[in-house]
Amino acid sequence: MTAQIIDGKAISQAVRLEWKARADRLIARGITPGLAVIIVGSDPASRVYVANKVKACKDLGLYSVHVELPGDATEAELLEKVAQLNTDPGIHGILVQLPLPKHIDAHKVIEAINPDKDVDGFNEKNVGALVTGETPFPSCTPYGVMVMLEKTGIEIEGRHAVVVGRSNIVGKPMALLLLHKNATVTICTSKTVDLAKHTRDADILVAAVGRPEFIKKDMVKPGAVVIDVGINRTSEGKLVGDVDFANVKEVAGYITPVPGGVGPMTIAMLIANTVRAAERLSGMNDE
Ligand code: GUN
Repeated sequence: MTAQIIDGKAISQAVRLEWKARADRLIARGITPGLAVIIVGSDPASRVYVANKVKACKDLGLYSVHVELPGDATEAELLEKVAQLNTDPGIHGILVQLPLPKHIDAHKVIEAINPDKDVDGFNEKNVGALVTGETPFPSCTPYGVMVMLEKTGIEIEGRHAVVVGRSNIVGKPMALLLLHKNATVTICTSKTVDLAKHTRDADILVAAVGRPEFIKKDMVKPGAVVIDVGINRTSEGKLVGDVDFANVKEVAGYITPVPGGVGPMTIAMLIANTVRAAERLSGMNDE
């Protein structure tokens, strides 16, 4: 059996169009959804991600501000920038690209973002709301995975979902979103004893561990849905996910490629969260 490939590029395109229609409704009423993306330093991967986020906004007619601070910018300078954007009426979403340089307390910076503009859904108010199932801003990558599963017609309720990775950006919010859809959820880490025993029991396996081709064919149940959140560069410079795609696709039922899988969905959901933030801040949130 060869897995059906889930085409994140195509799905994200459809999702972007849905949200463009909502953005256009706001624009017609004089409100252009605005996103500010802040990057500190010159990490090449982060720069590519940020450039893609800003480009997506422009492509859809959203307003975007790209703030670049040098790697030696102080925490106070970054907090000052966040404070300015918090009160800027043209900005509805603020994203501080992570990771931040070590001399900056990322938690403090995330907490400084106005929760109504926290389109990453990372600050404590929104994480709390995620736990209770009320968040307006599900974190973009796990949100993208949920939309991908839904648009592909994959049943979640009652199935065993195994998330490998426990980060605040992906693993933890991913597990909660799956739980809200009544999956039976197991969270593993790269350190889990006999990890393969758990992953082999997954109907839906989400790999978010940040290690190249970590999930091997013998760790996957035949017919399982395999979602690869990883983006890693090998020593030869090749872009690979956390899943050994070439071999796992021989046993999985569905699989996402890297690139062209979860990545484009993350950006589409950032657009979604920005438009939703603009709707809420302008009192036009009649979803
Ligand atoms: N770094 C990697 N993924 C993300 C993300 O979704 N949001 C932010 N702010 N930084 C990231």
